[in-house]
Amino acid sequence: MAKDIFKKCREYHDSDDARAQGFYPYFRCIDDSYGNHVMCEGSEKIMIGSNNYLGLAQDPRVIEAACEATRRFGAGCTGSRLLNGTISLHERLEGELAEFLQREAVLLFSTGFFANQGALTALLEADDAILCDRENHASIIEGCQTSLARLIPYRHNSATVLGNRLRRLPEQSGKLVITDGVFSMSGDIAHLPSLIPVAKEYGAITYVDEAHSLGVLGPQGRGTVHHFGVNDEVEIVMGTFSKSLGSMGGFIAGSHEMIEFLKHKARCFIFTASLAPAVVGGVLKALEIMQKEPERIDQLWMNTRKMHEGFTSIGFNIGSTQTPIVPILIGSEAKAFVFSQRLFEEGIFATPAIYPAVRYGEAIVRTSFMSTHIEKDLDFILEVFAKLAHELGTFDDPVYTEPGRRRNVFDFALSDQKEPEALRASSRVATREESELYAPLSR
Ligand SMILES: Cc1ncc(COP(=O)(O)O)c(C=O)c1O
Repeated sequence: MAKDIFKKCREYHDSDDARAQGFYPYFRCIDDSYGNHVMCEGSEKIMIGSNNYLGLAQDPRVIEAACEATRRFGAGCTGSRLLNGTISLHERLEGELAEFLQREAVLLFSTGFFANQGALTALLEADDAILCDRENHASIIEGCQTSLARLIPYRHNSATVLGNRLRRLPEQSGKLVITDGVFSMSGDIAHLPSLIPVAKEYGAITYVDEAHSLGVLGPQGRGTVHHFGVNDEVEIVMGTFSKSLGSMGGFIAGSHEMIEFLKHKARCFIFTASLAPAVVGGVLKALEIMQKEPERIDQLWMNTRKMHEGFTSIGFNIGSTQTPIVPILIGSEAKAFVFSQRLFEEGIFATPAIYPAVRYGEAIVRTSFMSTHIEKDLDFILEVFAKLAHELGTFDDPVYTEPGRRRNVFDFALSDQKEPEALRASSRVATREESELYAPLSR
């Protein structure tokens, strides 16, 4: 008898179990959005779970530009860029982004996820190696796994471990070092000034995902590579429109010849419909506003500093964040779910992040701040977090009482016998002599 493909679906009850216990935190339906506030499940909530860093998703000028593009070109392009789906707005946006980022050329993708997957799959071959920060975004991991290249994780932000990994690779193999510019869960910044020289020493090229740094870091929000002044030393830059630019879609920026190659070889670009006119029209306007109104970025940083200081003075561990992404360490997954539910009841929208998005036993409530959050709301948020920490005994969790205890992916295996996804992901490429690369202690 053929294997029952749906067996796993019938046996999947995690979400129903959480719903039954009253703390399922996902897929909350928003009825109206004002950016920093939303109407959700019958009442208004302060939104601190969004990547709308500059509040541009609701800017009336952006909305009008999206409407104008729709009136001119229609609701969709109904085809791939390669065939019938290229409109003048796509080419204009590619040109303006290339100029803004000081790159030879840019190629738009329908999502940031596709940009990572498309570029990595098209560029890397079987005898190449991808050196991938362990905390990189899922779209990068997906791209690494779909490409034929060997995936070699390195300890988060560690130039030393990166060097050790690179040293063992054959000199002639192609090598690419890939890192988030700003890490989407921890909020910390890639140490490009230490990583790039190591990559160069071993002939590796560098690829930086600027999803959370565009509009946040660097002059006028040009991203991490500009923040560190290393734009000329990084061969590939990727970005998204789904965060500071308030919409959706992604891009790859680099040399003319690389972009020309991706245009004809990246399957995630060729075999999907192009970005809708409304999206491109809106992003063009958002990009213009971002450059003309730097005070938005200044305000974002004022709000960020206030929240870093506020959470820390209450006693929360916010890890090594340096950006508007502020992870609030809770510890157990159940406690993180309950914390989020209580926040919601108090009028605050923020979601938990659990393993494998973060290390097992180190669940967080992920908060992120916008330039449009007002002082009164930020004070209220801090007040509620302090109250809930007391009410829910947050500071009694082992992550607070035993802060030095090392938690690693094997804790997960011990706790419920499931194979950790991170290990499963890396096992495809681990040979015997490499297996120590995946040792959990390397964190
Ligand atoms: C670091 C990083 N890269 C890529 C992506 C994917 O971007 P998009 O939402 O445009 O698909 C995200 C989205 O969360 C991200 O955080």
